[in-house]
Amino acid sequence: MSHPCLHLRLISVLLLCCILFASHVLMITALACRPDQIRALMQFKNEFESNGCNRSDYLNGVQCDNSTGAVTKLQLPSGCFTGVLKTNSSLFGFKHLRYLNISHNNFTSSSLPSEFNSLKRLEVLSLSSNGFIGQVPSSFSNLIHLTHLNLSHNELTGSFPLVKNLTKLSFLDLSYNQFSGTIPFDLLLTMPFLSHLDLKKNSLTGTFEVPNSSSYSRLVYLSLGQNQFEGKILEPISNFINLKHLDVSSLNTSYPIDLSIFSPLKSLLVLHLSRNRLLPASLNSSDIPLSLESLVMPRCDITEFPNILKTLQNLQHLDISSNMIKGKIPEWLWKLPHLSLVNLVNNSFTGFEGSSDVLLNSSVQLLDFAYNSMTGEFPLPPPNIIYLSAWNNSFTGTIPLQVCDRSSLTVLDLSYNKLTGPIPQCLSNLKIVNLRKNSLEGSIPDEFYSGAFTQTLDVGYNQLTGKLPRSLLNCSFLRFLSVDNNMIEDTFPFWLKDLPNLQVFTLRSNRFFGHLSPPDQGPLSFPELRILELSDNNFTGRLSQTFFVNWKASAIKVDEDGRIYMGDYKHAYYVYEDTMDLQYKGLFMEQGKVLTSYNTIDFSGNKLEGQIPESIGLLKALIALNLSNNAFTGHIPLSLANVTELESLDLSRNQLSGTIPRELGSLSFLAYISVAHNNLMGEIPQGPQFSGQAETSFEGNAGLCGLPLQGSCFAPPTQQPEEDDEEEEEVLNWKAVVIGYGPGLLSGLVIAHVIASYRPKWYLKIVGLDKPKEVKPVRFFASLDSRWDSYDNHVERESDT
Ligand SMILES: *[C@@H]1O[C@H](CO)[C@@H](O)[C@H](O)[C@H]1NC(C)=O
Ligand SMILES: *[C@@H]1O[C@H](CO)[C@@H](O)[C@H](O)[C@H]1NC(C)=O
Ligand SMILES: *[C@@H]1O[C@H](CO)[C@@H](O)[C@H](O)[C@H]1NC(C)=O
Ligand SMILES: *[C@@H]1O[C@H](CO)[C@@H](O)[C@H](O)[C@H]1NC(C)=O
Ligand SMILES: *[C@@H]1O[C@H](CO)[C@@H](O)[C@H](O)[C@H]1NC(C)=O
Ligand SMILES: *[C@@H]1O[C@H](CO)[C@@H](O)[C@H](O)[C@H]1NC(C)=O
Ligand SMILES: *[C@@H]1O[C@H](CO)[C@@H](O)[C@H](O)[C@H]1NC(C)=O
Ligand SMILES: *[C@@H]1O[C@H](CO)[C@@H](O)[C@H](O)[C@H]1NC(C)=O
Ligand SMILES: *[C@@H]1O[C@H](CO)[C@@H](O)[C@H](O)[C@H]1NC(C)=O
Ligand SMILES: *[C@@H]1O[C@H](CO)[C@@H](O)[C@H](O)[C@H]1NC(C)=O
Ligand SMILES: *[C@@H]1O[C@H](CO)[C@@H](O)[C@H](O)[C@H]1NC(C)=O
Ligand SMILES: *[C@@H]1O[C@H](CO)[C@@H](O)[C@H](O)[C@H]1NC(C)=O
Repeated sequence: MSHPCLHLRLISVLLLCCILFASHVLMITALACRPDQIRALMQFKNEFESNGCNRSDYLNGVQCDNSTGAVTKLQLPSGCFTGVLKTNSSLFGFKHLRYLNISHNNFTSSSLPSEFNSLKRLEVLSLSSNGFIGQVPSSFSNLIHLTHLNLSHNELTGSFPLVKNLTKLSFLDLSYNQFSGTIPFDLLLTMPFLSHLDLKKNSLTGTFEVPNSSSYSRLVYLSLGQNQFEGKILEPISNFINLKHLDVSSLNTSYPIDLSIFSPLKSLLVLHLSRNRLLPASLNSSDIPLSLESLVMPRCDITEFPNILKTLQNLQHLDISSNMIKGKIPEWLWKLPHLSLVNLVNNSFTGFEGSSDVLLNSSVQLLDFAYNSMTGEFPLPPPNIIYLSAWNNSFTGTIPLQVCDRSSLTVLDLSYNKLTGPIPQCLSNLKIVNLRKNSLEGSIPDEFYSGAFTQTLDVGYNQLTGKLPRSLLNCSFLRFLSVDNNMIEDTFPFWLKDLPNLQVFTLRSNRFFGHLSPPDQGPLSFPELRILELSDNNFTGRLSQTFFVNWKASAIKVDEDGRIYMGDYKHAYYVYEDTMDLQYKGLFMEQGKVLTSYNTIDFSGNKLEGQIPESIGLLKALIALNLSNNAFTGHIPLSLANVTELESLDLSRNQLSGTIPRELGSLSFLAYISVAHNNLMGEIPQGPQFSGQAETSFEGNAGLCGLPLQGSCFAPPTQQPEEDDEEEEEVLNWKAVVIGYGPGLLSGLVIAHVIASYRPKWYLKIVGLDKPKEVKPVRFFASLDSRWDSYDNHVERESDT
């Protein structure tokens, strides 16, 4: 935060003094703050590791009283400090502090020192997202001037903090902790100014009993979701007549919730009801606050389209995803005058009531009806549409040309439908185009103009013919290009090398032909390329020895922290993540999300010949290499031993000769190897990487011997070791997913493409179908209640398996 008045006052003396001080920022602070305070500030900084911020960033957040020179405000930049907050910290010497915000730092495993009570003048205290553990000391009750207390997103335990005597408190945020026990209502009664109370995601129990009192009339924000309350939790809420925002998600009530209970809340704007059972009749007709702008009710077991929505003329955001609603989407929905975001994902809708232009008068801008059972022609898109997703339905007919007139359209996902006809000639305008798995025909339109916005283009699994459009070269933002499983007949697009951002490129199963090495026999140059899938085409010829030397992105190892999903596209209202079919360690995963650390090469099923280039050894970040089913000759390159991240190596069905280099035994992540059907000879190197493989990985090489093949080179056969399949989980154990939310959290319609998994159990859990063997695409979409419905769920699911 900057403090304009302070700066203004000092600007005139700035020139005079700058000779005396090393840094301007220090000087500004020094003038306002007493030297002993500056020393104490530096001492405080020295108590921690502060690599995340420099001195000036730190001091920028400091304000001192301009008459006494004492520190009155400290706003620590986020990510500044790491370490334990000790009871003797210099922090507790700043007795004049009125505003202290040390949120978003890392005090992991510190408990909250009771010494906070020495900061008696504090009005604002924000300690959120810091990893604090343990109980809140009772001495916090001494901070009687507090108006704002934020302890959210820590690991605090114990009963509801006894923040007695905080009579001035207006904001109290205890959300995302592990507080347990009941809510002490008499305590809250002593806070007549309380307007914002957030208790979401704790382990609070008991009922929600509010004594009759007008004290709650100031409450405008109340979040109780995701606790373990019992009994009549909701009735008292009708006392809070000035509420604007109410979150009662996941309440686990023993009876279905009657929406009429909210009718006294005449000012309510936002209502979160996710994961509750709702009384069906009350969804049809009840007295629900007409003021509502945002209604969030995914996973509420709703089976009929809620008729009450008809009365909500102010409604802007609607999320009824992941329910069991059947039939057609009523025509009246589109007449709500302010509707802008509608999430209908994962229901059993069969189509739209009304004619194909039913959406033309709608104000909706973000519309997702993916994962339903819609048939028939695709409706004409709403005029102001930004995000349109309908993936996984059964729409037939052609893609309406009107998508081309929608100048605000940014994301179009019609994948996994039965659409026919040509691809419209307007892809340049869109950032994300996903038309995968339809029956589209013709060629990819050659009309990408210079400055085209396209970042992701997936037209895989259609019946496209012709050549790759040369105008793709105009798409300098393009990072994900998938044309796999079509009938495109072309030579390798060396010309695409000028695309500065291309990361993923798959041509799998087409009719590409000719050489892969550039005409000058030099390296193939795609600066950012991480995934290149060329399998099942008709490529021929040799690869030059320098083929891989310019693959810069694949040559750099991504450290653990840098592993994020590739191509996630965040907007205030939605998140889109690129997904692709992953073939890895002999497994197939449809529509998996791709980590930036996922570097793979698949040239299998072509007619490549000659030696495997030694330059492959430069690709330090490569985790999967598949060169099988070609006509490679010569030896297995020794340099493969330098590809230390390699987890999956398939060189089967070639004409490789010589021995398997012993050095490959040092590839500690290698979990899948196949060199079957070559002309290899000698002893299979011993060691866990090799002996743990199936016998079939080595078969068809007349000269190979040793484990795991039957019979050893020198000694009688021994027991085959157990396969270590722990490793197998590794790549698919995609780390914590932050698909939750963009900046506009509250209104964040999050539609993220997800993780399919080859693990049947998982699949069952997500989609609830009973055909576990078939690996269908599974993508998540979350909802207005994004944190809960995507992030938390996801984590929950991951840890379930
Ligand atoms: C500093 O003090 C003067 C008078 O003492 C006052 O007018 C001014 O607003 C103060 N500035 C700040 C930033 O507190
Ligand atoms: C401190 O970091 C900020 C950005 O975080 C940068 O603008 C500033 O130049 C840095 N100052 C010094 C002295 O390194
Ligand atoms: C506290 O600081 C964080 C950044 O570290 C900021 O996001 C937040 O808005 C601040 N809160 C208050 C009450 O100043
Ligand atoms: C706090 O106490 C520890 C010992 O527990 C000591 O090492 C440290 O120097 C003290 N810090 C201050 C600021 O006094
Ligand atoms: C916080 O610090 C601890 C050690 O001090 C470290 O293990 C942990 O990874 C850090 N967490 C974050 C989110 O940086
Ligand atoms: C408390 O902090 C969290 C995380 O920094 C933030 O999301 C939340 O809005 C804050 N609460 C209040 C009431 O400011
Ligand atoms: C709270 O206030 C009461 C009376 O105002 C006082 O007796 C009591 O000591 C205070 N409690 C704390 C913990 O400060
Ligand atoms: C609150 O007042 C109503 C009538 O005004 C009464 O029926 C109810 O029992 C009272 N509740 C409590 C908890 O005192
Ligand atoms: C929901 O309530 C039932 C009993 O009413 C209890 O058995 C169950 O554990 C609760 N579920 C959660 C998630 O709290
Ligand atoms: C809701 O209203 C429709 C008619 O508008 C009716 O067919 C349906 O049975 C009603 N559902 C419930 C649960 O009352
Ligand atoms: C591959 O190319 C050869 C000759 O160049 C041709 O005979 C063959 O039909 C092609 N195969 C495919 C699948 O296109
Ligand atoms: C492996 O890499 C090292 C240095 O990175 C290099 O000196 C060595 O020659 C490489 N080995 C092979 C076989 O390419």
